[in-house]
Amino acid sequence: MGTTKFVIFTLLLSGSLAGKYGDLFLEQYNKIANASNKYFSKEGVPYHTSETLVIESTDYGHETDSEAFSYNVYLQAVYGALTGDFQPFNKAWDMIEQHMIPKLQINAERYNPSNPRNVSGITVGVDPIFNELKDAYNTSDVYIMHWLSDVDNIYGFGNIQGECELGPNANGPSFVNLGQGSLWQGFNTPTCDNFTYGASDGFQFSATGQGIPSYSYGAGPDADARAVQAAFWASQWAQERGNLSEIMPTLSRAAKLGDFLRYTFFDPYFKQAGNCIGKEECPGSQNKSSAHYLISWGISWGGSLSEPGYSWRGGHSVSYYGYQNLVAAHGLINDLNIKPKAPTAIDDWKISLDRQLELYEYLQTSQGAFVAGVTNSWNKSYGNPPQEYKDGAFHGLWFEHQPGFADANPWFGFQAWTTDRVAQYYYLTNNTRAKAITSKWVDWAMSVITFDENGDYTLPFNIKWEGLPPNATVSVTSYAQSIGSASATARTLSYYAAASGDSKAKEVAKKLLDGIWNHHRTEKGVGFEETFSQYTNFNQKLYIPLAGWSGIYPNGDVINENSTFLSVRSWFKKDPDWPIIQNYLDGGAVTKISVHRFWEQADFAIALATYDMLFNE
Ligand SMILES: *[C@@H]1O[C@H](CO)[C@@H](O)[C@H](O)[C@H]1NC(C)=O
Ligand SMILES: *[C@@H]1O[C@H](CO)[C@@H](O)[C@H](O)[C@H]1NC(C)=O
Ligand SMILES: *[C@@H]1O[C@H](CO)[C@@H](O)[C@H](O)[C@H]1NC(C)=O
Ligand SMILES: *[C@@H]1O[C@H](CO)[C@@H](O)[C@H](O)[C@H]1NC(C)=O
Ligand SMILES: *[C@@H]1O[C@H](CO)[C@@H](O)[C@H](O)[C@H]1NC(C)=O
Ligand SMILES: *[C@@H]1O[C@H](CO)[C@@H](O)[C@H](O)[C@H]1NC(C)=O
Ligand SMILES: *[C@@H]1O[C@H](CO)[C@@H](O)[C@H](O)[C@H]1NC(C)=O
Ligand SMILES: *[C@@H]1O[C@H](CO)[C@@H](O)[C@H](O)[C@H]1NC(C)=O
Ligand SMILES: *[C@@H]1O[C@H](CO)[C@@H](O)[C@H](O)[C@H]1NC(C)=O
Ligand SMILES: *[C@@H]1O[C@H](CO)[C@@H](O)[C@H](O)[C@H]1NC(C)=O
Repeated sequence: MGTTKFVIFTLLLSGSLAGKYGDLFLEQYNKIANASNKYFSKEGVPYHTSETLVIESTDYGHETDSEAFSYNVYLQAVYGALTGDFQPFNKAWDMIEQHMIPKLQINAERYNPSNPRNVSGITVGVDPIFNELKDAYNTSDVYIMHWLSDVDNIYGFGNIQGECELGPNANGPSFVNLGQGSLWQGFNTPTCDNFTYGASDGFQFSATGQGIPSYSYGAGPDADARAVQAAFWASQWAQERGNLSEIMPTLSRAAKLGDFLRYTFFDPYFKQAGNCIGKEECPGSQNKSSAHYLISWGISWGGSLSEPGYSWRGGHSVSYYGYQNLVAAHGLINDLNIKPKAPTAIDDWKISLDRQLELYEYLQTSQGAFVAGVTNSWNKSYGNPPQEYKDGAFHGLWFEHQPGFADANPWFGFQAWTTDRVAQYYYLTNNTRAKAITSKWVDWAMSVITFDENGDYTLPFNIKWEGLPPNATVSVTSYAQSIGSASATARTLSYYAAASGDSKAKEVAKKLLDGIWNHHRTEKGVGFEETFSQYTNFNQKLYIPLAGWSGIYPNGDVINENSTFLSVRSWFKKDPDWPIIQNYLDGGAVTKISVHRFWEQADFAIALATYDMLFNE
């Protein structure tokens, strides 16, 4: 890979901003940083949204997820590139370490890599990377972000960093897990469960009522990969500006994250990856044949708090196009500043980079959009798929479009997010496969984006697909003006245009940025009034995993068969926006709120800066 380009932004070396879009970046950046706009907690943790009454991927606007932290790292890296000040980048990574990589990992040192999960009825393999990670970093703990945090401790579990159930008076972001069922049926549970709240055995939902006090975490690995990607760019930009030494400690932590991120490559039970049929029949793997080498849907780990002392970990069987990240892989392989220490990490990432490219090719329709993903576990139970799925398998993984995962597939944002990274990789390397993938997608995207006479834009919101690869086809089912999707699309087109010289792509990128800037600026950043017809679900009954189960939350809210989304979140009634919801529930007008998602604000800012850096405009 000798063709790696170290991007030189000559105009930036003078220390001044190059063009108009750099100025717009700073204006947007200052709005995000402005404390009155409430994008950050007092600790400096990015919330999911500035507003509190937002229910979408998280069930409260001031919860947050690893995605927001990863966008913060990317935003601050870009800020460093434009201003030469990389301290905010360092601080953004500190936030990751202080609040999202769990310190409470009791019994981690008792983890047995020869038996990573002690479960019955399923054959388990060995964890082939634990020992080298332990040797490289002198720790048995997992260095990966948990995905969800209750930043204001509104649930009151008090699972602040390193602590277990300190309660409502604990001060600081508290790790939580999202319950089972749909977002509206689920209820949050504590990551560390020492039976202080919930039922007599906390939130274990064990039929005997005698579960073991324990903790568990889960990662959304696309976020961890995005943080590594951002660190790679920070490394490039800091070198150009002569500020590398200031960020070296942060870069070594990014390398460590990239090393541990390999857990996402593995089957959850370290079973053989590919043609894995039968919970007991499909063998556990004794080596890396348990790796599918894709950025899968998750990494999970946990353990007991007391005796019997154990801990466990595993990857995920399902991998979608939307999570893949060629830039993170490229950086870990080629940039010595983020070189992982474990001896087989680079070889693993090399296989992954190639496998990710192959997955894009496999899932790309002839129209240009991508569809769904692949799984190592048919029907989530290592079932035996129909023959047509076997005929079209991807390295022995089955085409996957199961409920649950399929939910995430229709969203156009995943298309733009992921192709942005393919375009960046193409820009960095001129790789012909990446070029072909991006070029096909760009043609499709430009055919479904429209502009009105005032320059305002519309792009797909949801898409649906039919058929199986290689004959799958897509159609757009709804359109919207989403800020994040438009920003990521603009960035994709910018990188593609810079690498290929395609002037049409550059023009559409500029029109999208101008469209957001001219039509959707608000006091707090960018946004528009969105309609939340799904807010009728406040009275949705909860999904209780065990019949007859009943428990209590730290604030006294009772959880049982009659509880609703709202009844176990009584604080919502004190929210300043509550009257709008109450009015809707009482039969009034559908809820409309202008929502400012941190990731969207950051995505737009990054897209502005990218356009400036690539074209000096
Ligand atoms: C990619 O190819 C273009 C056109 O041949 C060339 O101008 C550019 O320098 C190449 N970039 C890299 C990273 O090799
Ligand atoms: C911060 O934002 C508030 C409200 O949006 C605004 O009134 C104030 O002028 C801003 N402060 C700065 C320093 O821009
Ligand atoms: C595995 O679990 C069983 C019961 O669930 C227990 O008896 C056994 O000791 C466990 N083995 C290990 C190695 O933890
Ligand atoms: C490894 O970690 C242990 C305890 O965490 C510490 O006592 C020891 O000094 C460390 N070893 C090295 C080589 O850093
Ligand atoms: C769990 O509770 C027990 C007894 O109530 C206590 O001794 C133990 O320290 C607690 N564990 C943690 C991790 O807080
Ligand atoms: C970045 O590097 C330049 C050149 O070495 C130096 O002048 C500047 O002070 C550095 N910036 C910071 C914030 O340290
Ligand atoms: C894993 O081990 C099996 C059986 O010993 C062997 O056939 C296979 O080639 C190995 N695979 C890898 C990836 O090392
Ligand atoms: C999927 O698995 C469930 C139980 O795990 C079973 O009831 C169902 O029939 C299976 N569906 C298919 C299509 O195999
Ligand atoms: C895709 O279409 C081709 C041509 O019609 C056909 O031969 C092939 O069997 C189809 N593949 C699948 C997986 O449907
Ligand atoms: C749920 O509501 C029904 C109907 O009012 C009632 O009979 C039942 O006892 C309630 N269950 C609990 C756990 O309170």
